[in-house]
Amino acid sequence: MEEKVTAASLTTRKGKEKIVMVTATDEPTGRLVDRAGVDVVLVGDSLAMAVLGRPNTLSLTVEEMVHHTRAVAAGVRRALLVADMPFGSFQVSVGETVRNACRLVGEAGAEAVKLEGARVEEVRALVRAGIPVMGHVGLTPQSLHLFGGYRVQGKSLTAAQNLVSQARALEEAGVFALVVEGVPPSVGKAITAAVGIPTIGIGAGPSCDGQVLVLADLLGLSARPAPRFVRRYADLADTICQAVARFAADVREGSFPTVQECYPDPPEVAAWAAGEV
Ligand code: KIV
Repeated sequence: MEEKVTAASLTTRKGKEKIVMVTATDEPTGRLVDRAGVDVVLVGDSLAMAVLGRPNTLSLTVEEMVHHTRAVAAGVRRALLVADMPFGSFQVSVGETVRNACRLVGEAGAEAVKLEGARVEEVRALVRAGIPVMGHVGLTPQSLHLFGGYRVQGKSLTAAQNLVSQARALEEAGVFALVVEGVPPSVGKAITAAVGIPTIGIGAGPSCDGQVLVLADLLGLSARPAPRFVRRYADLADTICQAVARFAADVREGSFPTVQECYPDPPEVAAWAAGEV
């Protein structure tokens, strides 16, 4: 096995080697993306939409994140495993934030947590508790209602400068890496230049130190139309539909199962069942 990726080793990659992060939601997807050689596996709260069919990420609970993270952890060996802190799990108090993050790490097996926004007090407390933290700025989907929809952020000079300040404050508070989502490429570049930790972009242009995509988008499994920044590397929706339709046709025409797909019949039992004894 190639060397295990840690939060500390990831930080040293800035400016050297691009970082690849992909989401996973269960053991098979965790195992497969790890086998494909990604650096970071994110159990993102996007799973609320991608695999639970919800309209946004806001209803996902800590319990559900623990459940999915534990499943992903069973499949991941080499990559760094990061779990998202769901909406409501880090907004109430610093104490509750640490308690919820401890569940994701202790109960579920995450090696770091990610939280949205410039929550510097929470980040400091988590780092003090020994938990590596990934930050997330820009179009943070949990702020959907504040933004009035999934809108590109940092479009004015003030907004862009504010995002750079948030990134610096998060670095200062101790995050080891930063997701930058839904900003113009020049803002992704400015944030990347402003901090000494790696930035991982999603819809933030090519200058970030790494890129992340939601697995269901990358594989062509999502029901919703893919956002502009998604590149589809497979059309698994079609592959799955075709495979299941072939199975259905085989069952209906009686060509499944064959003798090779059945357990051997004990001769005595077969003769009895055929009414021969
Ligand atoms: O929830 C998620 O999948 C994420 C990524 C899009 C960064 O936060």
